[in-house]
Amino acid sequence: MARSSFGLGRVVVNIVLVVSVILLVIVLNRRDSVFATNQTIQEVPNCTASGCHDDFAKRKQKHPLVAEKKCATCHQEIKDKNHIFAPLKPQPELCTQCHDGMLEKKEFLHGPVAAGSCTVCHDVHGTSHKKELVAEPRDLCLQCHVEMGEVLAQSPYRHKPVQENCSLCHDHHASNNKVHLRLAPEKLCLDCHKDVNKSITKGKVDHAPVKTNKQCFNCHKPHSSDFAHLLVKSEKNLCLDCHSKPLVDKNRTIQDIGTLLQKKKNHHGPVIQGNCTACHSEIHGGDGFRLLGLAYPEKFYTSFKKEKYALCFKCHEPQLVTVALTDRLTRFRNGDVNLHFLHVNKDKKGRTCRACHDTHASSLPKHIRESVPFGNLGWELPLKFVKTKTGGSCQPGCHKRYKYDRIEPLQNIPKIPKVKKGKVAEK
Ligand code: HEC
Ligand code: HEC
Ligand code: HEC
Ligand code: HEC
Ligand code: HEC
Ligand code: HEC
Ligand code: HEC
Ligand code: HEC
Ligand code: HEC
Ligand code: HEC
Ligand code: HEC
Repeated sequence: MARSSFGLGRVVVNIVLVVSVILLVIVLNRRDSVFATNQTIQEVPNCTASGCHDDFAKRKQKHPLVAEKKCATCHQEIKDKNHIFAPLKPQPELCTQCHDGMLEKKEFLHGPVAAGSCTVCHDVHGTSHKKELVAEPRDLCLQCHVEMGEVLAQSPYRHKPVQENCSLCHDHHASNNKVHLRLAPEKLCLDCHKDVNKSITKGKVDHAPVKTNKQCFNCHKPHSSDFAHLLVKSEKNLCLDCHSKPLVDKNRTIQDIGTLLQKKKNHHGPVIQGNCTACHSEIHGGDGFRLLGLAYPEKFYTSFKKEKYALCFKCHEPQLVTVALTDRLTRFRNGDVNLHFLHVNKDKKGRTCRACHDTHASSLPKHIRESVPFGNLGWELPLKFVKTKTGGSCQPGCHKRYKYDRIEPLQNIPKIPKVKKGKVAEK
C-alpha cells in the first residue's frame, strides 16, 4: 500500500529528526550557543539544506510554503526543547487560516476533515502525487473505504467516473449535500448525462419514476451493479416491481403487465429475454407513445404506412404486410391471399397489429389475443381464434366466423378487391 511505504518514509524522517536533534543538542551544549534559547526557526540555517530535512527538497509535489522553505509559517519551536518544532496551531485551523471558506457554511464535513486532520490526505512537506496527496486520489479514498473497493472489484458493471475519480461526484472536504455529493442528487446525474436530461425535459411522454421519489436511484446504482446499465436489479424484475398492479391515475389505467405475464404462458421473444427496453427504449421519457422508441400506432385503426410500424419491423419483415399475394411471406393467408395485407394495409381503417396480437403475452399461439380492448367503455372485443394445422379461423365482432387455409384456400373470404401496382409480388 502506498500509505505504508509513505509510513516507512516517515519512520526514516523521524529517525533522521531524532539523530539530528541529538547532534544539535551536543553541538549547542558544547558551544553554549546563542541559539540555545528562544531560537526561532528563521534563525536556523536552512531546514532543507543542512542534512536534516533535505529529502523534502527532492519531493515532486510540495506545498508552496514548503517549496519556499517558509517552515515557520506553520511551525514553532516548543519552549525549552531544543529543535522540537510543533505546528503553530491544531488542524484544521492551521490550514483554514489561509484556506478560508473551504469549510465555512458547509453542513456536512467529511469524516477525516471533521476529525481535524488535513494531513491524513495531504502531506504538505511533499509527495509524488498532485496537491500533495499521499496517494493517487481514487486509491486514497479506497484506502479508507475498503469495503467499497471490495464491492467495486467484484461487480461486473462499474460506472466509468467511479473508476476514474471519486471527486467527480463527491466533495472530499465538505458539502451541503448528503453523502458529500458535489451537487444535489437529482442534479448530479444530469450534470453529465445531458441526453437523458433532454429526454426528461423535452419529451411529450414522461415516465413517472424518473422524476419522483428517489428519481434516478429508483432504477440505478451510482457506483456499480451486478446488472447491466447499473440497474438495481435485472431489467424485467425492475419493471415488474412497479408494473405488477394496474396503475391508476385520473385519466387512465396502465395495464398490469406482471399479472398478464403470469397468467399467459406464451411470452413474446424479447419479453422472454427480459428485454423490455427492446421496445420501451425511451425509458426516461420521450416522444414515443408508451415510451416506445420506434413508431407504433396508438389507435385500433389507422391508414397504412410502413413507417408507422417501425417498431415491429425492427425485428420482423415488413413484406408480411406490404405484399398482397404470397405463398411464403406469411402464414396468415388463404391460399396466396395475404390476410395481413387484407386487414392491415388499407387506406382507411386498417387494423393495427394490436387488433389480433398482444405484444407482451397471450395464451394462444402466435401471440394472438383472446380479446382486444375496443373503444373507451372498457369493453373487450372477443376474437375467438382457432388455429389449425394449415390455417385457422376467427369470429370477432367484425364478421362471422371466417376460416383461412394455406393449402386449400377457402372461399368464404372476400378476394382482394384491387391489388395496387407493385404490391403483387413474390409468387
Ligand atoms: C503548511 C504548514 C506546514 C509547513 C509550511 C511546514 N510544515 Fe512541517 N508539519 C506540518 C504539520 C501540520 C505537521 C504535523 C504532521 C502531522 O500531524 O501529520 C508537520 C510535521 C513536521 C515534521 C515531523 C515529521 C512528519 O512529517 O511528521 C517535520 C520534520 C517537519 N514538519 C518539518 C518541516 C520543515 C523542515 C518545513 C519547512 C521546509 C515544514 N515542516 C513546513 C505543517 C507544515
Ligand atoms: C499561510 C497560508 C497557508 C497556510 C497556513 C496553509 N496554506 Fe496551503 N496554500 C497556501 C497558498 C498560498 C497556496 C497556493 C495557492 C492555492 O492553491 O490556493 C496553498 C496551496 C495548498 C494546496 C494545493 C497545492 C497545489 O499543489 O496546488 C494544498 C493541498 C494545501 N495548500 C494544503 C494545505 C494544508 C493541508 C495546510 C495545513 C497543514 C495548509 N495548506 C496551510 C497557503 C497556506
Ligand atoms: C479525504 C482526503 C482529504 C482530506 C482529509 C483533505 N483533503 Fe484537501 N484535497 C483532497 C483531494 C482528493 C483533493 C483534490 C485533488 C485533485 O485536484 O484531484 C484536495 C485538494 C485540496 C486543495 C487544492 C484546492 C482544491 O480545493 O482542490 C486544498 C487547498 C486542500 N485540499 C486543502 C485541504 C485542507 C485545508 C484540508 C483540511 C481542512 C484538507 N484539504 C483535507 C483530499 C483531502
Ligand atoms: C482517512 C480515511 C478516509 C479517507 C482517505 C477517505 N474517507 Fe471518506 N470517510 C471517512 C470517514 C471516517 C467517514 C465517516 C464515517 C462514515 O460515514 O463511514 C467518511 C465518510 C465518507 C462518505 C459519506 C458516507 C456516508 O454514508 O454518509 C463519503 C461519500 C466519503 N467518505 C467519500 C470519500 C471519498 C470520495 C474519498 C476520497 C477523496 C474519501 N472518502 C477518503 C474516512 C475517509
Ligand atoms: C457518479 C457519481 C459518483 C461517483 C463517481 C462516486 N460516487 Fe460515491 N456515491 C454517489 C451517490 C449518488 C451516493 C449516494 C447513494 C445513495 O444515497 O443511495 C454515493 C454514496 C457513497 C458512499 C456512502 C454510501 C455507500 O454506498 O457506502 C460512499 C462511502 C461513497 N459514495 C464513496 C465513493 C468512493 C470511494 C468513490 C470512488 C471510488 C465514489 N463514491 C464515487 C455517487 C458517486
Ligand atoms: C462526472 C460525470 C458523470 C456523472 C456525474 C454521472 N455519470 Fe453516469 N456515466 C458517465 C460516463 C462517462 C459514462 C460512460 C458512458 C459511456 O461509456 O458511453 C456513464 C455511464 C452511465 C450509465 C450507463 C452504464 C452502462 O453500462 O450502460 C448509467 C446508467 C449512468 N451513467 C447513470 C448515472 C447516474 C444514475 C448518475 C447519478 C448518480 C450518473 N450516471 C452520474 C459520467 C457520469
Ligand atoms: C424506471 C427506471 C429508470 C429510471 C428512474 C432511470 N433510468 Fe436510466 N435506464 C433505465 C434502463 C432500463 C436503462 C437501460 C436502457 C436500455 O437498455 O436501452 C437505462 C439506461 C440509462 C443510461 C445509459 C443509456 C442511455 O440512455 O444513455 C443512462 C446514462 C441513464 N439510464 C441515466 C439515468 C439518469 C441520469 C436517471 C435519472 C434522471 C435515470 N437514468 C433514471 C431505467 C431507468
Ligand atoms: C419505480 C416504479 C416504476 C418502475 C421501476 C418502472 N415503472 Fe413504468 N411507470 C411507473 C409509473 C408510476 C407510471 C405512470 C403511471 C401513470 O402515469 O398513470 C409508469 C408508466 C409506464 C408506461 C406508460 C407510459 C405512458 O405514459 O404511456 C410504460 C410503457 C412503462 N411505465 C414501462 C416501464 C418499463 C419498461 C419499465 C422497466 C424498464 C418500467 N416501466 C419501470 C412506475 C415504474
Ligand atoms: C415487442 C415490443 C415490446 C416489448 C418487448 C415490451 N413491450 Fe410493453 N408495450 C409494447 C406496446 C406496443 C405497448 C402498447 C400497447 C398497446 O397499446 O397495444 C406496450 C405497453 C406497455 C405498458 C402500458 C400498458 C398500457 O396500459 O397501455 C406497460 C406498462 C408496458 N408495456 C410494460 C412492459 C414491460 C414491463 C415489458 C417487459 C416485461 C414490456 N412492456 C415489453 C411493446 C412492448
Ligand atoms: C426486439 C425484437 C422484436 C420486436 C421489436 C418485435 N418482435 Fe415479435 N418476435 C420477436 C421474436 C424474437 C419472436 C420469436 C419468439 C416468439 O415467438 O415470441 C417474435 C415473434 C412474434 C410473433 C409470433 C411469430 C411466430 O412465428 O410464432 C408475433 C405475432 C410477433 N412477434 C408480433 C410482433 C408485433 C406485432 C410487434 C410490434 C408491436 C413485434 N412482434 C415486435 C422479436 C420482436
Ligand atoms: C386481423 C388479425 C391480424 C392482424 C391485424 C395482424 N396479424 Fe399477424 N398474424 C395473425 C394471425 C392469425 C397469424 C397466425 C398465422 C398462422 O400461423 O396461421 C399471424 C402471424 C403473425 C406473425 C408470424 C409470422 C407470419 O406472418 O405467419 C407475425 C410476425 C405477425 N403476425 C406480425 C404482425 C404484425 C407486425 C402486425 C401489424 C403490422 C400484424 N401481425 C397484424 C393475425 C393478424
